[in-house]
Amino acid sequence: MKISIKNKILFYVFISIFFIIIIYGLIIYIGVKKNIEVDIENRLTMSGKLIKEQINPEEILILKLQGKIHERYLKKLGQLKEILDVNDIFIIDANKKVIFSLFAKKEKFFLDIDKFEINNAFKGKQTSSPFYIGTGGKYFKTGYIPINENWVAGIEINVLYEKYLKQYARLFFIVSVIALLFGFLISFLISSGISKSIIKLKEKAEKISKREFDENIKINAVEEEIVILSETIDKMKREIKEYIENKEKMATIGEFSAGIAHEMRNSLNILSGYAELIIEKTQDEKITNYAVEIKKNVWKFNNFLNNFLTYTKDFTPEFIKADIKNILIKVINEFFKGEENIIKIEYDDNEKFIKDVDEYLLKKAFYNIILNSYHAVSRNKDKKILIKLLNEKDGRIKIIIRDNGIGIDEKIKDKIFQPFVTAKKEGVGLGLAITYRIIKEIHKGEIFVDSQKNIGTEFTIVL
Ligand SMILES: Nc1ncnc2c1ncn2[C@@H]1O[C@H](COP(=O)(O)OP(=O)(O)OP(=O)(O)O)[C@@H](O)[C@H]1O
Ligand SMILES: [Mg+2]
Repeated sequence: MKISIKNKILFYVFISIFFIIIIYGLIIYIGVKKNIEVDIENRLTMSGKLIKEQINPEEILILKLQGKIHERYLKKLGQLKEILDVNDIFIIDANKKVIFSLFAKKEKFFLDIDKFEINNAFKGKQTSSPFYIGTGGKYFKTGYIPINENWVAGIEINVLYEKYLKQYARLFFIVSVIALLFGFLISFLISSGISKSIIKLKEKAEKISKREFDENIKINAVEEEIVILSETIDKMKREIKEYIENKEKMATIGEFSAGIAHEMRNSLNILSGYAELIIEKTQDEKITNYAVEIKKNVWKFNNFLNNFLTYTKDFTPEFIKADIKNILIKVINEFFKGEENIIKIEYDDNEKFIKDVDEYLLKKAFYNIILNSYHAVSRNKDKKILIKLLNEKDGRIKIIIRDNGIGIDEKIKDKIFQPFVTAKKEGVGLGLAITYRIIKEIHKGEIFVDSQKNIGTEFTIVL
């Protein structure tokens, strides 16, 4: 599923605000609840004191008689009930029997539940029950006020919990809506800014595909990442431009050279033919040597022409599955016959090294590297060229070609893959340039080199 940056930002902001609101709501809820409870406890303590003042323990027994004293208690505690805004005031005896209540109905279902609090009250401690939901979904709480070891007075208060909660819910709802609207507005502004920069970048990038390389890709966005992206695309643009220009130049050279190379080869063949004729006909040793020299140089020039054409040519490779190990063995057998004690290949016999490759071109690439190594070790007493083949974990194949030769000349170390870079008297400097094209461009592989003066050189190819 694809999702636009704009929607993604909106989604994340929505989720964040949602969680902030939930946490904020919970904190407020806990705070409000705590405040209400403290408030109720205070009410109970204060009411308890007032009620206690109005009750004379000596009169309590007489209350049962429902006489004048009972009337008086009904009146004075009734007034107190109104003032304190409580539900009922009652008195219980040690058996938890209600012996007085402002209500005619004396059964109190919660006395059994509040056993613990009542017992404590009989021990002289003012206590209160937990909240409970009574009739009409209202919250109640009962306070127990010790009068003496025989009597405990109770106050049943109605808590306007729902009123507070409703107020809180309303406030919470308003705050949430404002927060969400505000969040959406901010995220909309942010995401619109980013989308705008990206769209601008996209339009500029499209110009690259139309080869409009003069367009400056860098944009002045606020977002650091977009600026980095635009700089990267700009760098890429310059590289593409350079690459295309180079390619076009090469194509032109290629076409041109292919045309004249044909003519040159004809002349070279004639030259070579005449040189051979001279060798055949003459008895003069000096002249024979001149003719041999002509033949040698014709051969060298022909070789140069071939390499030059290979480098400038646009390849149309033909890929087939092949074992890299066999390609390397062929290169050694065909071009380095008799040098098996110098050039060794190391690989696991149980493994295969299969890849889709153009065998002809890959042979050329390996040959160029091995030939350079062969030249590099030529003055050594102990000449060693070791080729290692490895199957990598990611399915790629690694080929290491190591020699103990003279090492790459420091002056050209950084540019050996460029054409016409050579440190050899008779070199052209095209061998590695061709190899580089074959490995990187044709096979999309990697090629690295590591070299130390008079110790040796190691080429690593990954296919
Ligand atoms: N194994 C090696 N050890 C030391 N130097 C090396 C090695 N391989 C390459 N070089 C250096 O890199 C240069 C460039 O190599 P490259 O094969 O491109 O050209 P070349 O061998 O000079 O000419 P040619 O076009 O005939 O191959 C060489 O001239 C040589 O100095
Ligand atoms: Mg070479």
